[in-house]
Amino acid sequence: MTCRCILLVALVASASAASVFQRPINSDCVRVSTASTDASLFPNEFQISGTAVVNSDDYTEVETSTGFTVTYYDNYKVLNNTLAGEAYTLTQCGVSVAANELPSDARPFSIPLISLSLPETVPYAFLELLGVTDRVYDVSEYVVAPCGQRLVQSCNRVAPDSLSLNNATLLSSTIGAYTDGLVTSSNSAWPTQFTFSATEDPGLLQRAEWIKFLGVFFNLDAYSSNLFTAIKNEFEQTKAAALAQEGPKPVVAWINHFMYGTQEWYQLSFAAYKTELVEAAGVQPTEFSPSDLAFAWGTNETFANQTLALEAFLSVLAEVDIVIDETFVADPSTYHLGEFLMQFSSEGVFPTAEDVWFSAGKILRTDGLISAAAGLDWYEGAIPRPGKVLLDLVATTRPEALTVSGIVRGRGATHTPIWLRNIKDDPVVVTAADCTTAANGCSASPSTICPFISFCGNGSPVLLETNLTTGALPTGGKCTYAACPAA
Ligand SMILES: *[C@@H]1O[C@H](CO)[C@@H](O)[C@H](O)[C@H]1NC(C)=O
Ligand SMILES: *[C@@H]1O[C@H](CO)[C@@H](O)[C@H](O)[C@H]1NC(C)=O
Ligand SMILES: *[C@@H]1O[C@H](CO)[C@@H](O)[C@H](O)[C@H]1NC(C)=O
Ligand SMILES: *[C@@H]1O[C@H](CO)[C@@H](O)[C@H](O)[C@H]1NC(C)=O
Ligand SMILES: *[C@@H]1O[C@H](CO)[C@@H](O)[C@H](O)[C@H]1NC(C)=O
Repeated sequence: MTCRCILLVALVASASAASVFQRPINSDCVRVSTASTDASLFPNEFQISGTAVVNSDDYTEVETSTGFTVTYYDNYKVLNNTLAGEAYTLTQCGVSVAANELPSDARPFSIPLISLSLPETVPYAFLELLGVTDRVYDVSEYVVAPCGQRLVQSCNRVAPDSLSLNNATLLSSTIGAYTDGLVTSSNSAWPTQFTFSATEDPGLLQRAEWIKFLGVFFNLDAYSSNLFTAIKNEFEQTKAAALAQEGPKPVVAWINHFMYGTQEWYQLSFAAYKTELVEAAGVQPTEFSPSDLAFAWGTNETFANQTLALEAFLSVLAEVDIVIDETFVADPSTYHLGEFLMQFSSEGVFPTAEDVWFSAGKILRTDGLISAAAGLDWYEGAIPRPGKVLLDLVATTRPEALTVSGIVRGRGATHTPIWLRNIKDDPVVVTAADCTTAANGCSASPSTICPFISFCGNGSPVLLETNLTTGALPTGGKCTYAACPAA
């Protein structure tokens, strides 16, 4: 076996321009000395779980059911986002690995990351589940999570907007000196940017599985894998209850009055994740032929005018029991039946009592939980929680499948829908005041993420003592290791 001890060289902070982030040498980092012996800094029990594991002398590669793989080497991991076609080398802080040892086609990071910029809201929801929002420097002003709203309001930490992500001058002067990770859904040339592709993934559970991808940047590989297993189990449990329930299976349609610039049409959505949800809830999707997807008029030859398009659209809904209206509106708080009717009427054509869903008042919206700035949690907190989303759908469409005399099966309490609301009800608006974690100021340092390995005086490695059942790392900054061999 070749000794790779030579790679374990203590990291020396290098002087550099003020606008570049300097990672503090803190307790997140492994401490090595000339005595330190060859050891894997990412032992097997702390790795992610996946669909396939390939072992070789030099590395362990773990594949997942979605678009990324992780390859573990002794001192670094390679995280490969195959959906985005990008890879990253993640080196444990405290060691330096010679650049020519690392794959050249991968962007380098020193982990655990310590300060992130989040121009989009989705990563915030995942990081909140992982418990590392104390490592978020700034976030999109549209964030719904109350503690994200507090970051924006109390600390004025608004992440650069999507139009600035390729403006190096602007990024240097805003986030350059303060962050070591810029998380976006499409790539940019910024040296600490990486691409988080959860929403590019068509599958419902696969989207949530991207929690493991973020976990890898924080050495939460095993913990995030266990979180995902729990999310998946919750989904499967609700799905089994819904599919076991006999009786009528209502027909559900996801509808939308689309208006943007000069474009306008009525639409039925069959996005893969919605179809997956509908099937898991034991309801039926609308019958359709591909030409029914968009009901447009004017320059597009489909329909001569809006009235004819709406007539055809409503006739497709004739057999539908429940509609989920996703029409974008500036203020969801004031969107009720009257506003819905204005969206879906034209020159004497509008829903009538003959439409089952309309007469039964079965019109749902996905804006049941919103921020003070009218951001929808449906596009944020719902994404890593498919099990809860399914509970919402079953509770609003087939409550009999969930409840046994008012008690949600296996849970002991009724489920109050979070994201789906009936159009007659008001959305729930959460604000910064709903952030329940203790305010820790705008420049507090994050709690420690302990390295998995500590080196004894004689150079031998010992393992971090942690809860291997949950994979959770010790909290409170206290890192405890197995006893060193007697000198
Ligand atoms: C990432 O995966 C792609 C596709 O499998 C592969 O071609 C590429 O070499 C990988 N990159 C790294 C750095 O491993
Ligand atoms: C980039 O940002 C700088 C600083 O905000 C600004 O002056 C400049 O016009 C921007 N460049 C482009 C191409 O938008
Ligand atoms: C209508 O036509 C325009 C121009 O070809 C196209 O960009 C748009 O996507 C079309 N809209 C629909 C609903 O097909
Ligand atoms: C829409 O087109 C139909 C068929 O050409 C016509 O009868 C109707 O008057 C038109 N409606 C409007 C509002 O223009
Ligand atoms: C690990 O966590 C699980 C689940 O919370 C708990 O049941 C178990 O007692 C913990 N084990 C240790 C050694 O703390």
